Amino acid sequence: MTLLRPFVEEDNSDLLEIEKLCPHGNDKIAESADKSPNAVARYDMYDNWKIYVAVENDRTAGWIGWTLKEDVNGTKYGYLIEIAVHPQFQKHGIATELMTKAEDDLRENGASYAYGYVFEENDASNALCKKLGYEIVNEMQLNAFFTYKQRNVSDDFSIRLADNEDIPDIVNLLNEYHEGWANFVPYTPESFEAHIKRVPGYGLDKLWIALSGEKIVACAGLWDVSTIYRMCYTKEPASMKIYGALLNFLKHFTNVPKIPAENEFFTNQTMVDYAFVPEAPDAMENLINYMNNATLDLESISIAAMFFSDDPLFPVLQRFKPFVEKWGFYQKSLDGEDRKFELIYPDFRDFVL
Ligand SMILES: CC(C)(COP(=O)(O)OP(=O)(O)OC[C@H]1O[C@@H](n2cnc3c(N)ncnc32)[C@H](O)[C@@H]1OP(=O)(O)O)[C@@H](O)C(=O)NCCC(=O)NCCS
Repeated sequence: MTLLRPFVEEDNSDLLEIEKLCPHGNDKIAESADKSPNAVARYDMYDNWKIYVAVENDRTAGWIGWTLKEDVNGTKYGYLIEIAVHPQFQKHGIATELMTKAEDDLRENGASYAYGYVFEENDASNALCKKLGYEIVNEMQLNAFFTYKQRNVSDDFSIRLADNEDIPDIVNLLNEYHEGWANFVPYTPESFEAHIKRVPGYGLDKLWIALSGEKIVACAGLWDVSTIYRMCYTKEPASMKIYGALLNFLKHFTNVPKIPAENEFFTNQTMVDYAFVPEAPDAMENLINYMNNATLDLESISIAAMFFSDDPLFPVLQRFKPFVEKWGFYQKSLDGEDRKFELIYPDFRDFVL
């Protein structure tokens, strides 16, 4: 008999343990996270959240976490943050019970729909979502490029760290860039300041701007996600193994990217709060080159950005020949209404494995 109950702090070690045993993927590629010491640190970035733990014969069998968000029109909706079931308890309907619990709670609290992201190679989770009536309504891409060599920064733009006086202009740029995108709530200078202070491993000292003359034409931040988690490939694709072996040889002669070995934990810098004026994709490219150079001494191996393919950042990042992973953006209506999701704001707080 499965008991579902709210999370308590004493569950932390069980959650960390289960997470390690629950990679996302299949027998060709799978990735896993280590969130120690605090399995739930990511939740503090949200205004509200709930975690329910499944207990089977006094043992922690799994958990689910979710948060209720609200868009600019006052529509409430839920984000299913994560779900995991201990391998010994899988295929007994526990995830189904946990998902149903989250949906019921979201519905009771006025949510119109629920969404979540699933790695395209995560066979179990994709099947679970489809079985429970979720549909892929868009595709989120992770684009990451390795940071290991200096990149040229053109002097067509002046690039520097942002300071307090720049915040109103940065806010205008972000609001214009994302205007009309689903789930984007325009910032005010005050809400933006509060937002950058709230994310651990991020802040004004990690937010850069590119200026053309006096005008800010591009901005972007880097979030050091190692403050929350590290990840590893528990199953590395064959192509990555071959590439890694080749680079291991070449590193004796030249500067090469660091490809983590299977089960080796690594971390990246996640690109956040980026925007640029439509006529200045080159400013964005130079800003990314600049951020690359600024992170070469850090332990992270790459800069990663997550976005939907209709984001204007997409063609800019292709110039960096990124490594790409695809994640389904699943949605399920909780109020019976059908919704269209075209341009979607990628809330970067969601992008923790
Ligand atoms: C995904 C996961 C939570 C499913 O947990 P679970 O308790 O075994 O799921 P359930 O028993 O409720 O299964 C419900 C449905 O999910 C699908 N499913 C579950 N495990 C599956 C598997 N290994 N392969 C294919 N489909 C699977 C099936 O459609 C199943 O319905 P069925 O039993 O009628 O075939 C679990 O496999 C897990 O923890 N995976 C690793 C972590 C993860 O990927 N989390 C989700 C991140 S988005």
